[in-house]
Amino acid sequence: MSRVLVVGGTGLAGRAVTAEAVSRGHQVVVAARRIPDDDAPGYIEGAAYVTADLVTGAGLEEAVDGVDVLIDASNADGRRASHVFAHGSRNLLHTAARYGVGRAVLLSIAGIDGSRYPYYRSKLLQEATYLDSPLEVRVVRATQFHDFVTSVFERGRRVGMLTAPSGTRFQPIDVTDVARVLLDAAEGAGEPGSIRTIGGPRVESARSLARQWKDASGTRRPIFSVRLTGPLGSTWRAGHHLAPEHAVDGTGYAAWLRAL
Ligand SMILES: NC(=O)c1ccc[n+]([C@@H]2O[C@H](COP(=O)([O-])OP(=O)(O)OC[C@H]3O[C@@H](n4cnc5c(N)ncnc54)[C@H](OP(=O)(O)O)[C@@H]3O)[C@@H](O)[C@H]2O)c1
Repeated sequence: MSRVLVVGGTGLAGRAVTAEAVSRGHQVVVAARRIPDDDAPGYIEGAAYVTADLVTGAGLEEAVDGVDVLIDASNADGRRASHVFAHGSRNLLHTAARYGVGRAVLLSIAGIDGSRYPYYRSKLLQEATYLDSPLEVRVVRATQFHDFVTSVFERGRRVGMLTAPSGTRFQPIDVTDVARVLLDAAEGAGEPGSIRTIGGPRVESARSLARQWKDASGTRRPIFSVRLTGPLGSTWRAGHHLAPEHAVDGTGYAAWLRAL
């Protein structure tokens, strides 16, 4: 058993990581700026919660104290991403090194090399910050989560539609499958300094996935193809975010929808 810190452990991926770490018998600490009440839906029994802010550094010492391995599943929205990922990661890793944390695992995104999309560039910088740190680091890059792909379709809600990016395929992955790989890395699987990419079990067109979401949700909104402009659109249309050779044998989009 190790003491595992899950940074961003109240988020979508972080909650799955926290649950997986608790189920493997680790002593788990979750750090985030806002922590849930113990009767809130996202609260995970068996984990300890610490209020900490990557950017200001408040609470980080308490969070890393006595920790053997940290898993970073934090996130930041578009405009703040570069600051949180670069400055916040440096704060965290510096504090972790001072407190003798031996190992760190970073959750990143498949296919971000070479993209001009600012958020992806921030993730690349974050990876470099981790790999340059004195800790034993492993990076796990995942394809888009089922929930995220669904949120792309739901961007059309305001205008009464489901929006499917044209010329785009996705390989959605379940956050519980991502969590298992992150915990394996936290327990020492894979080479120190390595970047492992994982993807969901199937690559499918955005339109086909949107159709499945439409059927499962029962919405009558029509599916509308949109051409995504800018660097994210070109990265996705080029398929750089896909990793069919690294597909995990996990829960696909259809099975995820059935379980909702
Ligand atoms: N979405 C995808 O499809 C996808 C695919 C592959 C990889 N990823 C990566 O997976 C990671 C997690 O994504 P997610 O969607 O699970 O994130 P999320 O649901 O937005 O959760 C973000 C977490 O980070 C915490 N956080 C944010 N700012 C913080 C700060 N300054 N200090 C401490 N904690 C902070 C949040 O809690 P508070 O706000 O309370 O602080 C929350 O716990 C991201 O790095 C993302 O790039 C995402």
